Amino acid sequence: KTNDELRRQILFILCQALNTEFLPDVSQNVYIEGKLYPKDELTNVTPNILSKTTRRLHLQPRHPISILRTLIEAHFNEFQHFNSFSPVVTAAQNFDDLGFPEDHPGRGATDSYYVNKSIMLRTHTSAHQLQAFRSGAEKFLISADVYRRDEIDSCHYPIFHQMEGAQIFNMSNVAEETLRDIDKTAFQPTESISTDDDTVIGSNNPIQPCHPIEAANAATMHLKHTLNVMVRRLFKEEKDLKVRWIDAYFPFTSPSWEMEILYKGKWLEICGCGVVKQELLDKAGRPDKIGWAFGLGLERISMILFDIPDIRLFWSQDSRFMDQFKPGEITKFQAFSKYPSCTKDISFWINDEREQGFHDNDFCEVVRDVAGDLAELVELIDDFTHPKTKKRSLCYRINYRSMDK
Ligand code: DAH
Repeated sequence: KTNDELRRQILFILCQALNTEFLPDVSQNVYIEGKLYPKDELTNVTPNILSKTTRRLHLQPRHPISILRTLIEAHFNEFQHFNSFSPVVTAAQNFDDLGFPEDHPGRGATDSYYVNKSIMLRTHTSAHQLQAFRSGAEKFLISADVYRRDEIDSCHYPIFHQMEGAQIFNMSNVAEETLRDIDKTAFQPTESISTDDDTVIGSNNPIQPCHPIEAANAATMHLKHTLNVMVRRLFKEEKDLKVRWIDAYFPFTSPSWEMEILYKGKWLEICGCGVVKQELLDKAGRPDKIGWAFGLGLERISMILFDIPDIRLFWSQDSRFMDQFKPGEITKFQAFSKYPSCTKDISFWINDEREQGFHDNDFCEVVRDVAGDLAELVELIDDFTHPKTKKRSLCYRINYRSMDK
């Protein structure tokens, strides 16, 4: 650390010891959970986002996200839980440890929130897989808030919640272990739920060369069975549910899949999953194991189960939202007054000399910082390039609507 940083940290610790108010120098530093991080050219976390890192919706017992979490935890009753990992992680935890290539788009500052070059807000709960495997856990769930820069509409919010699940088996007898488990939880096919799976294991979605085929097949069967059973349980009240499996790619699993459900005519991804890359288990000190992992989007599932129409509602502190739900119960959301919306258009010339170019997310970030949750929808409605000067101008329409008062 530079002397300057060191001086600041020492000052901070002294102030804490003396119980004196400490005003962190936020022009040079980012202040999160009692720690100071020096800013650099990658820093793009905003005060609006930072103010929400302490809300922990997944741990508020009457909050839909927490209710869903506890229902899933009760379903996986033999799994260990990790629910209080800090959202501040290293880029190594979030990306490198999981084998993300250097040029993966998720690493970009348009998609992720950086505290500085090496520290960021996790973009997924997979950032904690390695430490959970290292802890010795063989079946676990990790629930947490995750952060991604994104557009503004009724189903995108820069903070949402995921639940990571994983289970590992002895490589030497995975077939017997998984079969025993599958027998225990066999399910009756229900008429109201159909599951399609025409995924193919092949060169596009391969078994890892280090895995015996029978072992990889056993892990796959167990994974798909486990998630099919869970979805049936969660959605048992929904009439006519369609579920499908599709092939996918994740840097830390192979083969990989996504599970989608048909909701209001659209296929919604609710989960990514796959057979854990052996490198990851090796790194965690479990080379003799084989296993699977999944990541579930909790908002997606809650919006369907609780009938919540707008993702901003999860952040409402209005008692008409907060008092509606009871621990352990899925109840349908009762809409309370929704004020009329108000639109304003804003247009501006782009400064195309900026190094990184312009991205929609940059504009949405400004809107979020100024308007907070009043902004309901942001749409690009005009994109104009002047024929002579070649200067480009954009026009966005911002829809404002108060969710509560
Ligand atoms: N972390 C992934 C995401 O956020 C989801 C995911 C995919 C999690 C595959 C997993 C997995 O554990 O095995 O998109």
